[in-house]
Amino acid sequence: MNEAAPKKEQRRKFQAIRGTRDLLPPDTALWNHVEETAHAVFNTFGFGEIRPPIFEPTDLFARAVGGDTDIVSKEMYTFVDRSEKLEPDPAIGNMNVFFQKVRDLYKSGEIPAADQDEFALKLAQDQWKRVDDLLNQVAQTEDAGKDIYTLVLLYDALRLGTRVSLRPEATASVCRAYIEHNMQQLPQPQKLYYIGPMFRRERPQKGRYRQFYQIGAEVLENVKPDPMRDAAKELAKDAITDAELIQMVMTFFDRLKLPGVQLEINSIGHAADNCRRGYVALLKSELEKVKDKLGADSQRRIETNPLRVLDSKLEHEQPIIATLPKIADHLCDDCKTHYAAVKRELELRGVFYNENWRLVRGLDYYMRTTFEITAQGLGSQNAVCGGGRYDGLVELLGGPPTKGIGFAIGEDRLILSLQEAKDLAIAAGKQPPFVYIAWMGANAYAAAVRAAKDLRAAGIRVELPPVEQKFGKALERASKLGAHYALILGDNEVAEGTWTLKTLADGTQQKFTEPHLLEFLKKL
Ligand code: HAM
Repeated sequence: MNEAAPKKEQRRKFQAIRGTRDLLPPDTALWNHVEETAHAVFNTFGFGEIRPPIFEPTDLFARAVGGDTDIVSKEMYTFVDRSEKLEPDPAIGNMNVFFQKVRDLYKSGEIPAADQDEFALKLAQDQWKRVDDLLNQVAQTEDAGKDIYTLVLLYDALRLGTRVSLRPEATASVCRAYIEHNMQQLPQPQKLYYIGPMFRRERPQKGRYRQFYQIGAEVLENVKPDPMRDAAKELAKDAITDAELIQMVMTFFDRLKLPGVQLEINSIGHAADNCRRGYVALLKSELEKVKDKLGADSQRRIETNPLRVLDSKLEHEQPIIATLPKIADHLCDDCKTHYAAVKRELELRGVFYNENWRLVRGLDYYMRTTFEITAQGLGSQNAVCGGGRYDGLVELLGGPPTKGIGFAIGEDRLILSLQEAKDLAIAAGKQPPFVYIAWMGANAYAAAVRAAKDLRAAGIRVELPPVEQKFGKALERASKLGAHYALILGDNEVAEGTWTLKTLADGTQQKFTEPHLLEFLKKL
C-alpha cells in the first residue's frame, strides 16, 4: 500500500480498456476446448504451430496489409520503441548533446531513420539554436513563445526509436518468420498455424473487439525457377492446396458443431496479370459514372481501392453495386482455370459453398481465391473466418518467390456462436469428475490430503476445503461449487478404512476401500 498516494488516486477503480475484456471461468473452459480441437484437427492435416511475437515493426504491416487499408491507416496501435541509449528526457541545457546522440544513432542504424527523420532532426536543431539564443537574451516577446512552441512540436516529431505496432493480424508475421528462418530450405510447403490475440482500434460492438483472438493457418511454398514448369499442372496443384485448406477449417467447425456454417468463395484475379488490373480500371470508370449516388466512404474508395466499394453494406448503394461489372467475366484464362479447379476440388471433398462475386476482403495481399465463412447467432458481425491466396507476399517482404494461402478464424465470434447455440454440453466436451472432500477430524485431514494428491494425479478435479466443516455445511458448499461427488471422511471412516462417496445429483451413497475408490473414480 502506498501511503503517500493521494486519496483520490487510491479510490480510483481500474477497468479493462474499451474494446478489451477478461475471459473468465467457466467460459474459458470452452475457449480451451476450441483451442484443443484446433490443435487436434490441424495436426491431422499436417500443420505445425508457430508463435510469432505480438508486436512487429509498423512497416511490416503497412507493406503487407496495405497502407490504404482501414486496418493500417486507422486501426493499428502504434508506438515508438524508444532507443534505450537515449536519456528519458533531455535536460534543457543538454539539448545539443541529446541531438548529437540521436544523430549518432541514426548514423549507426540503431534508430532507423528515413530522409524525413534526418530533416526533422535538422529543423529541431536549428530551432533549438534560435530558442537558445532567445533564452540567452531573455527576450520575453511573443515571438519567443512561438519559437519555443514550434520546438516542442518538432521535438515530438523526432523519431527516437523503431516504430512498432501491436499486430492487427498474423499473416504478415508468419511471412516475416518464413523469410527470417529460411523456411524455403525446409520441405515445401510449410504448413503453419497460430492462436493468439490481435489488436485493431475498431468501434467495439457485439463480436467486435479491440483485442480479439484469431486461430489462423498459412501454407507457404517456395517457387523454384524451373523453365520446364507445366503451368496447367501448377494451377491444378494450387487449387488442391486451396481446397484442402478450406476443407480443414470446415472440418474444424464441423467437429465443434458450429451452427449455420456457410462458406462463400470468389476469385479476384491475378495482380500481375492484366485481368485484375483491367477489371479494376473498368470498375473505376463505371463507379465514376455513379459517383454522385454513392456515400462518402465509397466515393473515397473509388480513388484508393475501387474493389472495396463492392464490400459496402449501405442499403442505398446495393442496387447500384448490383449493376457493376463482375470480376468472373473478366478473369484471364489461368485465373478462370484455377477458380474452376478450386470449385471442383471442393465438390470432390463434399465441401458446400456459395459463390459471391462481391467478396474482395479488406487486406491488399490477396489474389485469386478469397473466401469467408459465416455462422449463426452473430448479428451484423457474422464473419467467423476469412482468408485467401496471397502468392507474392513473401517476395514483397523481401523474401524468395513464394506462394501462399491462409485463413484466420475470429475465435471470439466462434465462441459467441457456440454459446448462442446453447449446445454447451457437447461443445465443452466431457468434464472430468469433480470430488469435494468433506473431512472432519485431525486423522481424517491427513487422509484427505493423501486422497486429494492421489485423485488429482489420476486427473480428477478435487476441492479440499482448508477448514473443517460440519458435514451438512460441506455438502451445501460442494453442491454450490458444482461438484459431482462428496467424499465423506471422518475419523471413524479413516479408522475403519471404508470411505463414503456421495453422488450429489441423487443423494445416493456408496462405501469403498481407498484403492477401490480410486479405481471407481478413474473409470468415470
Ligand atoms: P480478417 O478478415 O481481417 O483476415 O480477419 C479474420 C477474422 O478475424 C474475421 O473474419 C473475424 O472473424 C475476426 N476479426 C477481425 N476483426 C475482429 C475484431 N475487431 N473483433 C473480433 N473479431 C475480429 C485476416 O486477418 C487475415 N490475416 C486472414 C488470412 C490469413 N488471410 C490469409 N491468411
